[in-house]
Amino acid sequence: MQEVMDSKRRSWMVSAVLTAVVVTTMLILGGRNVGSPGVWTAVASFRQGSLHPTAAHHDRLHNGLFIDSFDEESCHSRYQSAMYRGNPGRRPSAYLISKLRRHEALQRRCGPGTAAYSNALEQLKSGKRNASPECAYIVSISYSGLGNRILAAASAFLYAVLTHRVLLVDPSNEMDDLFCEPFPDTTWLLPRGFPMTNYTSFGVDTAESYGNMVRNKVIGSSGVAADASTARLPAFAYVHLHNDATVEDNYFFCDDDQRLLRRIQWLAMRTDSYIVPGLFLVQAFQDELDLMFPERDAVFHHIGRYLFHPNNHVWGLVTRYYDAYLAAAQQRVGIQVRVFGVQPNSPELLEQITSCTQKQKLLPEVLATGAPTTSPASRARSKAVLVTSLKSWYYEKLKSMYWEHAAVTGEAVSVHQPSHEEYQRSGARSHEHKAWAEIYLLSLTDVLVTTGMSTFGYVAQGLGGVRPWVLYKSTNSSVVPDPPCGWDVSMEPCFHKPPSYDCRLKQWAADISKDVPYIQHCDDLSWGLKLVGRNK
Ligand SMILES: *[C@@H]1O[C@H](CO)[C@@H](O)[C@H](O)[C@H]1NC(C)=O
Ligand SMILES: *[C@@H]1O[C@H](CO)[C@@H](O)[C@H](O)[C@H]1NC(C)=O
Repeated sequence: MQEVMDSKRRSWMVSAVLTAVVVTTMLILGGRNVGSPGVWTAVASFRQGSLHPTAAHHDRLHNGLFIDSFDEESCHSRYQSAMYRGNPGRRPSAYLISKLRRHEALQRRCGPGTAAYSNALEQLKSGKRNASPECAYIVSISYSGLGNRILAAASAFLYAVLTHRVLLVDPSNEMDDLFCEPFPDTTWLLPRGFPMTNYTSFGVDTAESYGNMVRNKVIGSSGVAADASTARLPAFAYVHLHNDATVEDNYFFCDDDQRLLRRIQWLAMRTDSYIVPGLFLVQAFQDELDLMFPERDAVFHHIGRYLFHPNNHVWGLVTRYYDAYLAAAQQRVGIQVRVFGVQPNSPELLEQITSCTQKQKLLPEVLATGAPTTSPASRARSKAVLVTSLKSWYYEKLKSMYWEHAAVTGEAVSVHQPSHEEYQRSGARSHEHKAWAEIYLLSLTDVLVTTGMSTFGYVAQGLGGVRPWVLYKSTNSSVVPDPPCGWDVSMEPCFHKPPSYDCRLKQWAADISKDVPYIQHCDDLSWGLKLVGRNK
């Protein structure tokens, strides 16, 4: 009996794949005059079966977000990713595009290998401040999990654009082995030989931190003798925005302090969070941010797509998996289950996942065992479920459910999980490659279900341009929350540790978001802040 089922299924799958190829080919042929010549060239070099059904209409430069001048061979993902994306995403503003082009020029003019960079290093070694340096820099320190490091680099990048600084990413923790270079003809990686040799161990107690320099009156702050003290400004400041940041560290989000920081040539920043909502609290950045991001819920969406291109090795992992397991389905559903290594497999969490996906009609309900299956006609529809988790248990349970029971809709539901490490191993090379491939694969799904507070999920939803369904955190682990999940208010990541100091009133503020119409608290973390599209 099983063998008959299998062979039927196989012949159905073969014909579905053939149909997909034919339809795709027709789309390509029909649509080839629509796109630019570049679109056609990239499409033509593809295996057609791997294309997303609507991908032929997509623009390999993402509406001008990327430029055309990169060597394609050195980074296949940059120009191929549009083919794999079902969701073309939001359109970047013309102003954002012009800012990116100007920033690329800055990175080229001042980046590693230039005379300006050598001069700036000399200045840093001397420890003396140059009153009018040619170029200023921010080093983004890379630590914590991959999702955190991506959010940190994206945050540092936006800050760099706003303050005309060159962004240099600390290559630690494989940050030099996951991505293509985002800026043409230069590198964004901090070269070896950086004079602050122990910068990766900077922490809340580091004397050079902005917070400590303020507290110890090494420099003025918050308007207190700000102008008188500029003569004493150092060449370097460390910006500590880790979750143990002090009130003084968080002065970073104040206008007066930004005026001081602007005069410091070198900054190194430590955060593992998405601090961008905090940048929206700084008055001085407001006009630029408004022009760059008229859609405020698409900030990470644009920055993330601009900066983070999987390198060729990771892109191979992404495309081989996508082509083999996800391409043929009519809809792809991503489920990201964040569990911590020691947590036991939770039947309640499994029930929460199935009840969320079925109530919201993301996945079909199943018939009782032994119920007659539906007619072959309805089996033409198919869904592929991509599960990412450190554990394999949730995937195995879901897969068994759709194997042992028929879907009430008659749809074929396949369930896949690329890897399961059982515990998090940040820093191990192959693990990081696979983790990045999995984040990217999740971002290629049409519908996303995520466990809250996961930076892994945040990156995927932003890259994908998808508002996720968030599984609510249970207050009692033996009870499934009701409702089990909710549709997030925006695809923006949540800033987990926002400042609680009101710079304008110069006092502690219970709710820093209350005066900003497009910032609100996160569904998955009540004290977190996130950008939303519509005013609340
Ligand atoms: C880093 O090294 C410098 C000397 O190069 C030293 O003064 C400073 O205390 C060190 N900081 C940390 C956090 O180890
Ligand atoms: C959690 O829910 C179970 C079942 O309703 C109940 O027996 C238990 O007391 C609850 N635990 C807590 C800590 O509320």
